Amino acid sequence: MKNLFTPFSIKNCQLKNRIVMPGLASFLIEEDGSYSDKTIEHYRLRAAGGPSMIIMEAHGVAPEGIVSKHQARIYDDRFIEDLTRVASVIKAEGAVPAIQIHHAGRQVPARVINRKPFAPSSLPCPAIKGDVEPLTVEAINKIVSQFGDAAERAVQAGFELIEIHGAHGYLINQFLSGFSNVRKDEYGKDTEGRSRFAREVIREVRKRIGREFPISFKISAQEFVPGGLTTEESIEVLKFLVPEGLDIIQVSAGNDATPEWICQPMFMKKACLVDSAEKIKAALDIPVMVVGRINDPLVADEIITEGKADLVCMGRGLLADPELPNKAKEGRLEDIRICIACNTCMQSIFRKGRIECLVNPVLGREKEMEIHPAKTLKKVMVIGGGPAGLSVARIAAKRGHNVSLYEKQSILGGQLVLGSLSFYKKEMLNLINFLKKQIDKYNVTCHMNTEVTVDIIKKNRPDVVVMATGSVPIKPPVEGIDLPLVVTVPEFFNGMKQVILKVIVIGGGPTGCEIALDLSERGPSVTLVEQLSQIGIQIEAMTRKILLQKLKKNNVQILTEHRLSKVSESGVFLKDKSGNELFLEADSVIIAVGNKPENTLLDKLKQVGLEVYQIGDCVDVRSAKEAIYEGAVIGRTI
Ligand SMILES: Cc1cc2nc3c(=O)[nH]c(=O)nc-3n(C[C@H](O)[C@H](O)[C@H](O)COP(=O)(O)OP(=O)(O)OC[C@H]3O[C@@H](n4cnc5c(N)ncnc54)[C@H](O)[C@@H]3O)c2cc1C
Ligand SMILES: Cc1cc2nc3c(=O)[nH]c(=O)nc-3n(C[C@H](O)[C@H](O)[C@H](O)COP(=O)(O)O)c2cc1C
Repeated sequence: MKNLFTPFSIKNCQLKNRIVMPGLASFLIEEDGSYSDKTIEHYRLRAAGGPSMIIMEAHGVAPEGIVSKHQARIYDDRFIEDLTRVASVIKAEGAVPAIQIHHAGRQVPARVINRKPFAPSSLPCPAIKGDVEPLTVEAINKIVSQFGDAAERAVQAGFELIEIHGAHGYLINQFLSGFSNVRKDEYGKDTEGRSRFAREVIREVRKRIGREFPISFKISAQEFVPGGLTTEESIEVLKFLVPEGLDIIQVSAGNDATPEWICQPMFMKKACLVDSAEKIKAALDIPVMVVGRINDPLVADEIITEGKADLVCMGRGLLADPELPNKAKEGRLEDIRICIACNTCMQSIFRKGRIECLVNPVLGREKEMEIHPAKTLKKVMVIGGGPAGLSVARIAAKRGHNVSLYEKQSILGGQLVLGSLSFYKKEMLNLINFLKKQIDKYNVTCHMNTEVTVDIIKKNRPDVVVMATGSVPIKPPVEGIDLPLVVTVPEFFNGMKQVILKVIVIGGGPTGCEIALDLSERGPSVTLVEQLSQIGIQIEAMTRKILLQKLKKNNVQILTEHRLSKVSESGVFLKDKSGNELFLEADSVIIAVGNKPENTLLDKLKQVGLEVYQIGDCVDVRSAKEAIYEGAVIGRTI
């Protein structure tokens, strides 16, 4: 790595390398806005992992400017104590503490702030909907002043750089963009007018904190909506903003209508915003940092080496592996747990109100999941080499246990291998490879092509058995299900049966959708049949949005509220809710209606009387996230 670990400075702020952790809402903030020990530990670990700067997550400058009750805040002096604590912890670990200041504008439900959200114009947030209150000039002035107050508090708390959040469809972005700002006064009309609010905010912040203090501005340089910012217009905007006192720009993308450009899912290519950053850097005499799917230190190094940006931000990459910078610097690339852009982090925030990571089960639980060496070393037998088995083997062996893993197939990875075969999910392989290398590193003995039986277990005399036997596909008990044109999910992905011409996929869950998309990219005519009223409801929102767009573009026929009733030599019979029957011709019928736990061995084992744990899909069919998490928990328990 030639240039990623070279120093850089922004005014008097000295950065030891080019890796920055950008703002990432941690959802580890208490409802009253205070930090818990978890918040501090989360940031301590990330600072210790080796980035040059940590930009703390978006901190609300006003009570009505927060997006959620778990957002961090800086609108009152009472927050300064916690802010000081975290800034000093980050600094003590060797990173520059920076903080992002933010106002959500229209992008908050009224129930969170107990009033109508503010906005530049009377256009509601496309995602949240609901009435908004267009800002008067007096109210604008108040918010400008609140940004100034926030900046003063940040300096008082010991932060060394302030970032103004001008991106992602929040208030400043709402003003900048013709998509959300249709004002006719001096705060609207044209690029100059729409940038007035941002200019006033920067000017106020600069006035409060003095000439020498570095200020960053995060911009969604491309919004991908009609009337929204493009890189070209963003350059014009920045020509107004930079002279007000900016020292660096963070180039991002997306707004409240295009969140898939904020947290780009697997569909998007790595480092997808670098072209935009490069253009901005070339047009303006100011350093630029770039964010977006930069999950790999080699890619990051290339960006710096080619001069496309001065700094690279790694967001989800540092959630997945806080030690990524140190590991990259030491050349331990195989030890890095690469972010696979599955957006479990976002999904868990929206659906559960807490942050989780598929590849990093420890995220948000750093303290409670610390690893300690085992007190009594045991002989551990892990049955199944899927994500659950690999995860438990890794942790148990790391703690010193003598671990053997048994897998009946010739490869490790379990069903996740199938899950990595679609054209847009290849990065899943990074996860499997990481787990495989880890079990090698900790000397787990692997017995491949070995289907474990009770006799094998008795012969091995383990102290502990961990069942991680996964699940097997469900075949609906309908007439014709064993006909040659019927294909199971493993048969499809392993190419064991040819799938041709007219294909019907039964089951519109994640796997059925994935198969339909994969096939439709290759040619066959595809119909996707689902018994519910919608397809892919379990899929993370941004991934689902792109997936549905692609299915539509590829002319995949979607038939909801129908279930399979019979298969014939020439097609399928389906029934709707009222019992009406429909026949569809098909050359191949792929059955993707889900799996059931594989527990045949467990039932027999119960009589043997060993210490047995059960993890992953064999407990209940879910996803790789639960499999890895449960492995990580049991690995720490044994
Ligand atoms: C097409 C597809 C796409 C998917 N995509 C995703 C995704 O994007 N994200 C996600 O989170 N999840 C995804 N999943 C689900 C995910 O793969 C599973 O939830 C996960 O693999 C479960 O892990 P596991 O280790 O519990 O079980 P498995 O992965 O099923 O592994 C169990 C292993 O045990 C072995 N085994 C069973 N019995 C024995 C025995 N007696 N002796 C020795 N070995 C035995 C099996 O051969 C297998 O390798 C996908 C699944 C499929 C099929
Ligand atoms: C869980 C989560 C929380 C985020 N919170 C913020 C935030 O507080 N401020 C911000 O500017 N961006 C936020 N983002 C966006 C990231 O800073 C970054 O722009 C985006 O994740 C793309 O970069 P990455 O591929 O390196 O993750 C968040 C992203 C995620 C996944």
